[in-house]
Amino acid sequence: QTLKARDLEALADYIKSGKVKNVVVMTGAGISTSAGIPDFRSPDTGLYANLARLNLPYAEAVFDISYFKENPEPFYTLAHEIYPGKYRPTIAHSFIRLLHDKGILLKLFTQNIDCLEREAGVPDDKIVEAHGSFARQSCIECHQPYPEDDIKQHIAAKSIPRCHECKGLVKPEIVFFGEQLPAAFFHNRHLPQDSDLCIVMGTSLTVQPFASLPEMTRTATPRVLINKERVGGLGSGTDDILLLGDCDDGVKKLAKACGWLGELEKLWAK
Ligand code: OAD
Repeated sequence: QTLKARDLEALADYIKSGKVKNVVVMTGAGISTSAGIPDFRSPDTGLYANLARLNLPYAEAVFDISYFKENPEPFYTLAHEIYPGKYRPTIAHSFIRLLHDKGILLKLFTQNIDCLEREAGVPDDKIVEAHGSFARQSCIECHQPYPEDDIKQHIAAKSIPRCHECKGLVKPEIVFFGEQLPAAFFHNRHLPQDSDLCIVMGTSLTVQPFASLPEMTRTATPRVLINKERVGGLGSGTDDILLLGDCDDGVKKLAKACGWLGELEKLWAK
């Protein structure tokens, strides 16, 4: 079941009608793959399929807090590769920025740790980084913040940073398996109830509690899935719209239907 032209037109008409004022967007690694950052679970290209060299007991151990305490090296090897700074936002990121510029973005919930939404110009107060990010780092023992310049040096040198106070392990404030999500997630998780449009992009919706966010919308709220594959039961609601395929193509199609394509491309080219 893919999108019919009239669904896209109906969606664009709904957006252009002025009735859409509060859009919630939920994203995952799939919106950053065209920037050159692998996602986690794609069969051949995903990070978890390519971690054999790290000799992990199982792929997700690289982001597991108990494993990290015993062996922080695999994480820091990976951090060397995925540390923000070398990648440019995709047009899918710019689309979220465009929704903000249009004054209709209520909140972006992202599972990504690459900070590309910020780089695309989505303001801090509109972003809930549900799985944290590389923006801050601290000691896992005494929770003392650790300087950004210092961690950058360690990551560049592939060495492991230790707390200046207690010598505990330092970790970027990414949410690992076995850790609690940030308070901002719990403070904002009710917001999908207030939305009049929900857009889910580039996520397999496999990791809880994030994966339940799309279910928080009211039944009458249209939910749009822009993803390579069908996920999370999206498509089962009567007002669900599936734009199956590449995220960048999907946002371009939607922007075109809304008459925003020129604006979107300009924003992305900046
Ligand atoms: P996944 O790798 O699980 O899912 C990415 C989804 O995006 C899949 O459904 C892909 O088919 C799709 N996809 C990939 N590239 C795409 C493209 N160019 N266009 C459209 N769709 C594309 O990534 P997440 O759902 O983000 O958590 O994973 C969730 C969490 O699991 C991550 O935040 C991370 C991971 O373990 C932690 O590390 C705590």
